[in-house]
Amino acid sequence: MKKICIVGASGKLGRYMIQHALNKGYEIVGVCREQSVHKLDDVKDKITLIPGYTNDRAVIKQAVKGCDGVLVVLAPWGVQQYSTGTAQAVLDYAEPEARLIFSCGWHITRDGKDVYKTGLKIFVAIFGFLAKLFRFADLDDQVEACKRIFASDTRWTVVRGSDLEEGESEGLPVWARHVGDPKLESNLTRRIDFALFMVAALEDENLVQEAPAIVSCRCESALNESGKGS
Ligand SMILES: NC(=O)c1ccc[n+]([C@@H]2O[C@H](COP(=O)([O-])OP(=O)(O)OC[C@H]3O[C@@H](n4cnc5c(N)ncnc54)[C@H](OP(=O)(O)O)[C@@H]3O)[C@@H](O)[C@H]2O)c1
Repeated sequence: MKKICIVGASGKLGRYMIQHALNKGYEIVGVCREQSVHKLDDVKDKITLIPGYTNDRAVIKQAVKGCDGVLVVLAPWGVQQYSTGTAQAVLDYAEPEARLIFSCGWHITRDGKDVYKTGLKIFVAIFGFLAKLFRFADLDDQVEACKRIFASDTRWTVVRGSDLEEGESEGLPVWARHVGDPKLESNLTRRIDFALFMVAALEDENLVQEAPAIVSCRCESALNESGKGS
């Protein structure tokens, strides 16, 4: 892996992914909205930046050209099918053998076999309702984006993040195929480690066409379950 693209580079997750990718020595092309370019001033000499909306097909076509991997932040913001447009453009224009890694939350399910706690179900229902009502986000758009990714025969991975917190890295998160797995019980990951998992997935063949649900490797549930296995 030599050259990668980060779509949504100026957000919190995107900025962490830039740092991890620079540490790995990758050449980076970043895409972010024009009004957010200034957030990347500190790395502007180390990456190639293409300003533009991430659902702008011409922008994505230019950005992913020649990239061995693409890291995509799927955000549900706005009500203009932003996630779906972003995902579809990446699926359509990325190099055929490129690794495509998308971020989302636990609420996305690939096969309906995830088991959710009532609290998360209520949160998603209320957030989804209010978001649509006040037109600041559309969770259904992230769901549709992921449906299209799951149906694609590209070399995709959809990384499903737990609740997030800031802080120093605790190491590469552990993952399970389904929410409800006891190792995920603690439901907490450092955002810096979510980014670490996204970047590591670029070179992990075991994650091709998987939708790992992740959690911190240092959280109680992960430590409990690893203890049982040893
Ligand atoms: N937050 C959580 O607790 C949580 C939990 C689990 C999973 N996740 C997943 O983690 C990923 C990153 O989430 P995050 O919360 O950490 O946010 P983030 O990394 O800051 O990313 C938000 C992204 O959305 C863009 N954005 C913000 N407002 C927008 C708008 N109105 N229209 C278009 N784009 C807009 C931002 O771009 P600008 O820099 O241009 O503003 C940025 O690229 C997402 O895939 C999310 O589903 C988050």
